[in-house]
Amino acid sequence: MKDSILLIGKGRVGTALGSCLRTQKIPLVHRAGRGKFLPDIPKARLILIAVKDSAVSDVAKKIHQSRALKPGSFLAHFSGSLSSKVLRGNGCFVFSIHPLKSFAFPEGKCSDFQGIPFIFEGDKKAIKPAEKFVKILGGKLFQIKDKNKILYHAAACIASNFLVTLVSMAAALNKKAGISERKSQSRQPELFFIPLLSSTLKNIEKMGIPGALTGPIERGDFSTVTEHIKALKKNAPEILKTYRILGLETLKLARLKGLSEKESNLLKMLLKNP
Ligand SMILES: NC(=O)c1ccc[n+]([C@@H]2O[C@H](COP(=O)([O-])OP(=O)(O)OC[C@H]3O[C@@H](n4cnc5c(N)ncnc54)[C@H](OP(=O)(O)O)[C@@H]3O)[C@@H](O)[C@H]2O)c1
Repeated sequence: MKDSILLIGKGRVGTALGSCLRTQKIPLVHRAGRGKFLPDIPKARLILIAVKDSAVSDVAKKIHQSRALKPGSFLAHFSGSLSSKVLRGNGCFVFSIHPLKSFAFPEGKCSDFQGIPFIFEGDKKAIKPAEKFVKILGGKLFQIKDKNKILYHAAACIASNFLVTLVSMAAALNKKAGISERKSQSRQPELFFIPLLSSTLKNIEKMGIPGALTGPIERGDFSTVTEHIKALKKNAPEILKTYRILGLETLKLARLKGLSEKESNLLKMLLKNP
């Protein structure tokens, strides 16, 4: 990729992208999203907007008003929920590529992007340049139709954001259970679950779903689930609804893994019972 890239946005994704592209010796102009980035903005063949979703369309408008776009240029953003249509104007080609990773603490190295899926949506003419760009980062390009993008984004939120929520709920329960740590080992309560979470993720990677499922529902252990419900009713009734809903979803997986219909029906009654 000989043409220079113009990257707008110095947040988590913008910073990670900027440092990876510089490491790869790609000619790059990197500007913050806010402020006066327009007056001396250079022309570029590929312009990437890495600002918060609600500002993407405004930044795109500013770019269209500037002289940054050459004929046949490509304009892209990284949002998982927005369509590339928000970038349209002045006849350039538009696309979005959503890196399927959580950038809470990007290391600022190309390893931030190594092997991760980038979900492409946009103009057909943009597929090749997008693929080239993703290859530079070390990622893999996948395609999605514009109309299905929001569904894909909901899936990503369930897998990542809701996992954080679940760990937070588990940590709150553990606090009520009164697990105490030796002072010298004092740490955040959620860290307690890291070995369990890591092994579960490894199991999913190695064995897939439902193979990776373990626990009382998978084993058809009626008495343990009964005791869980009793304990939650008494100590954390606010969590019971979530336990029941996720328990019923887990039961479907347990059934797929081989739990008998009889055991499954008993557990279903127990989990549904208010
Ligand atoms: N973080 C992730 O895990 C992740 C993953 C995949 C995709 N993405 C996507 O990547 C893009 C950037 O996300 P991010 O996590 O890097 O965001 P971020 O860390 O919150 O940074 C957002 C950037 O947008 C700038 N900005 C905010 N309001 C603006 C405005 N009104 N006009 C111009 N610039 C403005 C901010 O500038 P200031 O610093 O001056 O406020 C900041 O540089 C988003 O489209 C997001 O959906 C993020």
